[in-house]
Amino acid sequence: MTLKIHLIAAARPNFMKIAPLYHELTKREWAEPSIVHTGQHYDVNMSDAFFQDLRLPAPDIHLEVGSGSHAEQTGNVMIAYEKIILREKPDMVVVVGDVNSTVACALAATKIKYSDNPEDRPIVCHLEAGLRSFDRSMPEEINRLATDAISDALWTPSPDADQHLQNEGAAKEKIIRVGNIMIDSFEFLRDKIEPLREYENFDFQPQGYGVVTLHRPANVDNPQTLEALCEMLLTLSKELPLVMPVHPRTKKNLLQQSLWERLENSCNIKLTEPLSYMRFMNLVLNCKLVITDSGGIQEETTYLKIPCFTLRPNTERPITITEGTNRLSTVSNIATDIEESLRVPIQDRKVPELWDGKTASRVADSIATLLKVH
Ligand code: UD1
Repeated sequence: MTLKIHLIAAARPNFMKIAPLYHELTKREWAEPSIVHTGQHYDVNMSDAFFQDLRLPAPDIHLEVGSGSHAEQTGNVMIAYEKIILREKPDMVVVVGDVNSTVACALAATKIKYSDNPEDRPIVCHLEAGLRSFDRSMPEEINRLATDAISDALWTPSPDADQHLQNEGAAKEKIIRVGNIMIDSFEFLRDKIEPLREYENFDFQPQGYGVVTLHRPANVDNPQTLEALCEMLLTLSKELPLVMPVHPRTKKNLLQQSLWERLENSCNIKLTEPLSYMRFMNLVLNCKLVITDSGGIQEETTYLKIPCFTLRPNTERPITITEGTNRLSTVSNIATDIEESLRVPIQDRKVPELWDGKTASRVADSIATLLKVH
């Protein structure tokens, strides 16, 4: 008998978290993993390109929920996924990260009962549990708090995450440190990523450019903030040319404010569509530094020991600062931060424990225990 495991994938940062687990579970004869795509991200270059790079099959189930306000998106995922759970009766539901679909599927799954027996229900597990920015103005922080409060098992990437969960009263036996699953995706594709010369498409030399990504509502939804960020990028690019794969949310706002043209007309900033996983990671691997507000990129740069400047007042991934190459920065401080950071020998920075490419295997072992396979 095989055990049905739903892996919920919704938005770009989720795909590199479910891929290693999917591949690992296909090797375990007791596991029947299915990919459930909620459709939160639907553009080819925000979704399909990642399935291709990460060697994922087409999703087994597609909810096609699409965009909307937070409540609409969360509610629509809950309504659509509840029907699927009742039909498929999975033994386990794995949600990853902190997007709206993560909390939506966790909420739908934890309330399901397959019969009058209260034990007859799916086990709900959160991969990347315990991260906290302590900034409740971020939708992701609310999603993280709510998902962790209701999940049956909490797989964490780092000791700070364990501590947050304990502080919030999570039972100790629920908290299982497994490491950082995103590193597994990079290691899985390292041999394919390294030989690409993505930088040549932008006429750059290795180490001769910086990579920029910005998409957080706090940075790109307010016209003054977005304009100030663009001014900063224009100034920095005089010293170091920049390439910026532009998220759809950011593109819409840049176009509305006529900032797109200003950036595009500057010869030192190259704007491009969002890139596939391998092309993007090759650009990062060969760059001098990264400027971002992404969560995942803070971790990838720490793993690759590449200086990262995070344009946020806080991070839910503080280990990337205390051990890794990350720094929180601002429009007014970034030039000094870059100067200071580039003086520090990067070899001194550490890769956090269990960020080793073997997280999927630890998660699969934990699933076997939770589902009482042995
Ligand atoms: C979402 C996640 C965020 C994650 C980010 C990665 C939440 C609350 N936020 O933010 O944590 O870091 O994904 O990208 O879940 N759009 C497209 N094509 C797409 C997807 C979106 O054009 O394939 C447009 C939407 O119409 C919308 C905007 O992009 O205007 C935002 O999309 P949405 O998924 O709501 O949030 P993100 O900003 O991507």
